[in-house]
Amino acid sequence: MDKPAYAKGLEGVIAAESQICQIDGEAGELYYMGYSIEDLAAHCSYEEVTYLLLYGELPDKDRLECFSRKMKAGRELVPPIRDMIRNFPSDAHPMELLQSVIAYLSGYVEHKIHHSDTCNCRSTLHQIAQLPSVIATYQRFKDGGDYVAPRSDLSHGANFLYMLSGEEPDPMEGHIMDKCLTLHAEHGFNASTFTSRVVASTKSTCYCSISAAIGALYGSLHGGANEKVVAMLDDIGEVSKVRPWIEDALACKQKIMGMGHRVYKAKDPRAIIMTDFLEQLSRKKGDSRYLDMLGRIESVFREKMEEKGKPIYPNVDFISGAVYLMLGIKPILFTPLFAAARAAGWLAHILEQRIGNRLYRPRALYTGQKPKPFVALEERG
Ligand code: COA
Repeated sequence: MDKPAYAKGLEGVIAAESQICQIDGEAGELYYMGYSIEDLAAHCSYEEVTYLLLYGELPDKDRLECFSRKMKAGRELVPPIRDMIRNFPSDAHPMELLQSVIAYLSGYVEHKIHHSDTCNCRSTLHQIAQLPSVIATYQRFKDGGDYVAPRSDLSHGANFLYMLSGEEPDPMEGHIMDKCLTLHAEHGFNASTFTSRVVASTKSTCYCSISAAIGALYGSLHGGANEKVVAMLDDIGEVSKVRPWIEDALACKQKIMGMGHRVYKAKDPRAIIMTDFLEQLSRKKGDSRYLDMLGRIESVFREKMEEKGKPIYPNVDFISGAVYLMLGIKPILFTPLFAAARAAGWLAHILEQRIGNRLYRPRALYTGQKPKPFVALEERG
């Protein structure tokens, strides 16, 4: 038998078949179930995209209405979850809170059902529906505010902004928030999605799979680059300081946050759509500080990388942090929001994993000691 190939970090290894997401990294294209991210962002609500990911096709009007009703009904946080948010250790990160809430939610469904191949997660939907409510409530309690009950007449994104601020968001801002969730809903076999599939492959529950995925996303190599982009903007301070800042950073071999991507070798299509949102928000608020600085960073960085013959383009995180700041969202909520959006993709992958499931069981290349004689405790030096 041939020796199995070894690829550190499973790089380049095809571990499963999937019909959910297609990425053409060279061309900078992204598709969910065959639909381009441009079309989905232009024409669909986050709920519609969630339906697409879970059922493999776009819903007709009746199906969308029924699905939407279920999602909206799932937004409310029951009192024990509100208490959990209030009493969670104040130093804990909201990603740890999200993991715990998901684990807790599993107590609200019948275990025999949610352990089986045909679990009822497609119809309970509370995991996807409640994450934005948890994030908004976490921030409200932290700021000394009260719980704001969800509204069913608002989109998924607009309702999040409403629950966060207690005020109905401006329609354009609610619309942009909903689209930001769509842009983050799915992205192929990344580390958190793979985690969710590994857990699903053991025939564990959707709840365990999603809480594990949240744990994987929490890591600084996966979620969180947009938080660092915002910190970079703070550090640079103003447009005139961009060039020296970038030159110094590159001279110190520092990576510029929000630039480059493992898969995209062209501009991330989500970054293009996000830039449009940032332009709209900057115009509306009469404040183009972030837009101007990001534009300058991109052009100086491109010039420097072209000098080295290494074209590297912005990814979605380059722009998303500035968009979130302009929507009134604090940086600590950026990665939790990513999780809230990605819950739809994770659930789609978990359900797909269960079809013709095979337990994931890779092997390690053993590099330890050769077998040796055992030494009794009293004889060890
Ligand atoms: N800033 C400066 N240089 C960068 C860079 C960045 N953001 N991204 C890549 N490069 C350089 C590397 O230093 C490397 O140079 P070298 O050949 O002289 O060593 C070259 O470009 C290739 O980079 P590499 O690390 O092989 O690319 P990758 O595809 O493995 O890495 C990332 C992709 C995302 C890990 C990397 O681009 C990065 O760290 N980006 C910043 C963090 C970020 O925005 N993450 C969010 C991703 S969605």
